Amino acid sequence: MDRHFPNTRMRRGRAAAWSRAMLRETVLTPADLIWPLFVTDGQGVEEPVKSLPGVSRWSVDGVVARAREAVSLGIPCVAVFPNTPAGLRSDDGAEAYSPDNLMCHAIRAIKDACGDDLGVLTDVALDPYTSHGQDGLVDAKGYVGNDDTVAVLVDQALNQAAAGADIVAPSDMMDGRVKAIRMALEMGGHPNVQIMAYAAKYASAFYGPFRDAVGSGGLLKGDKKTYQMDPANGDEAMAEIALDVAEGADSVMVKPGLAYLDIVWRARQRFDVPVFAYQVSGEYALIEIGAAAGVGDRDALLMEKLIAFKRAGCAGVLTYHAPVAARLLGA
Ligand code: PBG
Repeated sequence: MDRHFPNTRMRRGRAAAWSRAMLRETVLTPADLIWPLFVTDGQGVEEPVKSLPGVSRWSVDGVVARAREAVSLGIPCVAVFPNTPAGLRSDDGAEAYSPDNLMCHAIRAIKDACGDDLGVLTDVALDPYTSHGQDGLVDAKGYVGNDDTVAVLVDQALNQAAAGADIVAPSDMMDGRVKAIRMALEMGGHPNVQIMAYAAKYASAFYGPFRDAVGSGGLLKGDKKTYQMDPANGDEAMAEIALDVAEGADSVMVKPGLAYLDIVWRARQRFDVPVFAYQVSGEYALIEIGAAAGVGDRDALLMEKLIAFKRAGCAGVLTYHAPVAARLLGA
């Protein structure tokens, strides 16, 4: 009888756990994770976000406790988002640059508690502060104007930097905002504040639970398609990233995450800046809700998704699963 042997047995390397460990190409560590936190008014408050199972809004004291937890888990950075009290939202979003706003309170409290052990990343965009839920200033027709919005975003970013933010992250998709913010930070005495640009941010249906969490969802009329990108476009993402890098971004972000790993990969091949991805609220919620419905093991599902970000070339991932993942990694 003729015996046929495969020329190569790929399965040889997979046969034992030690060998799989030795041959593993990509590793995920807690240092790859950025943990988004929602801050709300009050003291001793925890409000679970219904559409985001396992995630709560915390008052400043609770956010500080989460920040300390991040440090103990080896998570290097948190991203803070405010649920601005309804009475402080306005057409022009002026609360965004009030030195006394919820964000500034949270930033100062976290930096007081954790110092240089933890980075604080802040979102630059007006949606948590506007009565219409758009990221910028709207004209009579509802169009978000570019240059007047950029002027306000500069004030917002300076306000965050003055409160102690380490990384400002413009998520608004206005043209020219990275350059304007970089210049203002330099002139304003904040040369070491980093800019992580939400460079390729898509007009996505996956942001719903986030808008609930910051209280802008019910307010938003229409969509954000005149500034956020069309999910059909990849070349355009490269153009956006090139602009933000040229304007002075220290790192760039692709958002959402999982459905856009081709964009991460292309960006990694093409640009020599760290590329981050945001596993957004809808992606997180689908894992939690799917696992609860019996689709699969939650921990296995979430770790498989997170390693995919690393494999695609991400320097790190913003994810609501950060503390869970860090614990699963043994932190
Ligand atoms: C604000 C902002 C959004 C997210 C991060 N920053 C929402 C939006 O653009 O409507 C979404 C994050 C998430 O869904 O987890 N511009």
